[in-house]
Amino acid sequence: METQQTFIIIKPEAVARGLVGEILRRFEAKGLKIRRLAMKTIEPDVARVHYGHHADKPFFPELIEAITAGPVVIGVLEGPGAIAHVRNLIGATDPLKAAPGTIRGDFALQNPYNMVHASDSPETARDEIARFFGDE
Ligand code: CMP
Repeated sequence: METQQTFIIIKPEAVARGLVGEILRRFEAKGLKIRRLAMKTIEPDVARVHYGHHADKPFFPELIEAITAGPVVIGVLEGPGAIAHVRNLIGATDPLKAAPGTIRGDFALQNPYNMVHASDSPETARDEIARFFGDE
């Protein structure tokens, strides 16, 4: 299987609840390698670009407020099929539909507070890694 890189955000609600170690542990236990890791607070302008494909949704203002509410941990994970593996580990977008055993299924109650963002395609991963780590 093709080695891929994917981009993750451990969201403000997960950082505030002290779940950074638990979430990273799950990715590492799966066998994924952590290639980049940083803590930062996302600026509203960057958040609006990152979630630009949701700009017409009624929940957009709430989503921007939630992702900029406090520090996040951003990272790049690598491994065979990393994009699909990470999305399987985090579970369905809606915490109500996320299976127990997934990160969202175990720790989240409702959107937009679903604990982790992860890239959904190789193109998105490339763009998101460049957006958040491009200046390194
Ligand atoms: P994420 O994977 O970061 O990508 C888009 C985000 O929008 C998603 O996780 C949720 O945080 C948020 N989201 C998706 N659907 C809804 C919704 N119906 N109401 C509020 N937030 C949502």
